[in-house]
Amino acid sequence: MTLSHEVEATLIKAARDAGQNAYAPYSEYHVGSALLFDDGAIITGSNVENASYGLALCAETVAVSRAFGEGRRGGLQAVAVTGPEDKGDGSPITPCGRCRQVLNEIAQLGGTDPLVLCVGANEVRRVALSDLLPHAFGPAHLD
Ligand code: THU
Repeated sequence: MTLSHEVEATLIKAARDAGQNAYAPYSEYHVGSALLFDDGAIITGSNVENASYGLALCAETVAVSRAFGEGRRGGLQAVAVTGPEDKGDGSPITPCGRCRQVLNEIAQLGGTDPLVLCVGANEVRRVALSDLLPHAFGPAHLD
């Protein structure tokens, strides 16, 4: 699945804007995420940390939770993830393992394999969720 340059740019900007709202006083690693649905809606999230460090919520998980909270149960076409541009070596951020599983839930519910835009300082890596999480365990296993 591919997106037009325009849609891709819009989705990445939405993720970057969301990252501005990250609550990450402990890691100072601000992440933004934006989910694109088949009706054109974009739902965003940013990471939310906690004084009890291990309770941090990732940006992608927050975005998926918001989508479920709005009643969405599928239709996920694409995801953009952005991190701070001044940290690391500039290579694209990729969703953590837990977020891959969380994204897989809403993807499998709607039978889509979303394109994940992993955004770095100088590069966007485009990868299918099924390549990030092959042989995924999902809702269909429980039927
Ligand atoms: N983080 C995300 O929001 N998404 C990821 O996929 C990787 C990590 C957050 C969690 C924590 O608040 C900070 O980045 C540093 O790990």
